[in-house]
Amino acid sequence: MSLLPFFQWCDSTWIGVTIRQSRYLFPVIETVHLLGLALLLGTTIIISLRLFGIGMRRQPVAQLAEDLAPWTLGSLIVMLLTGFLLFLSEALKCYDSRPFRLKMAFLLAAILYQFTIYRRFARSSSAALRPVWSGVVAAISLGLWFGVGLMGRAIGFY
Ligand code: HEM
Repeated sequence: MSLLPFFQWCDSTWIGVTIRQSRYLFPVIETVHLLGLALLLGTTIIISLRLFGIGMRRQPVAQLAEDLAPWTLGSLIVMLLTGFLLFLSEALKCYDSRPFRLKMAFLLAAILYQFTIYRRFARSSSAALRPVWSGVVAAISLGLWFGVGLMGRAIGFY
């Protein structure tokens, strides 16, 4: 089943057309997209470094993960909303864009991983007792989010 009719519909929505015809809306929305990215990656990097045993060692990993969870979730919601607005403004470009498809694949994997294995591991009291596994769990999370960001950047070039 081709997704082309869905992408054509998204591209023709009044929101998509308004952003596309505006000189400022796309860059303003993309700036918020990048600020959301900074907060999302910021909270994930802090917890991942802690899982690597680097920084904030007086704070238990589980406490840090719990305290930062609302910021991670809030920034993810901002990314999804602003990303969808950017997508509506150039849906047909995204349809032909391999980086966009790879980005969506990375994004799905990153979100599933973040709210299952990563969250369960970071919040378990035994995380600190298993440094090697902590490192592996943290490295996979950083790799997935880096993939989303890299493909997001590549959309504008390929
Ligand atoms: C947490 C999730 C996300 C991350 C980390 C992310 C990351 C990025 C990055 C780094 C850029 C490049 C910005 C630049 O070139 O200055 C970007 C642009 C973009 N993103 Fe996202 N993004 C996310 C979610 C989404 C979603 C859900 C969508 C669509 C459904 C989306 C659609 C786009 C589009 C269309 C662009 C503009 C590409 C262009 O320059 O033409 N993003 N994103």
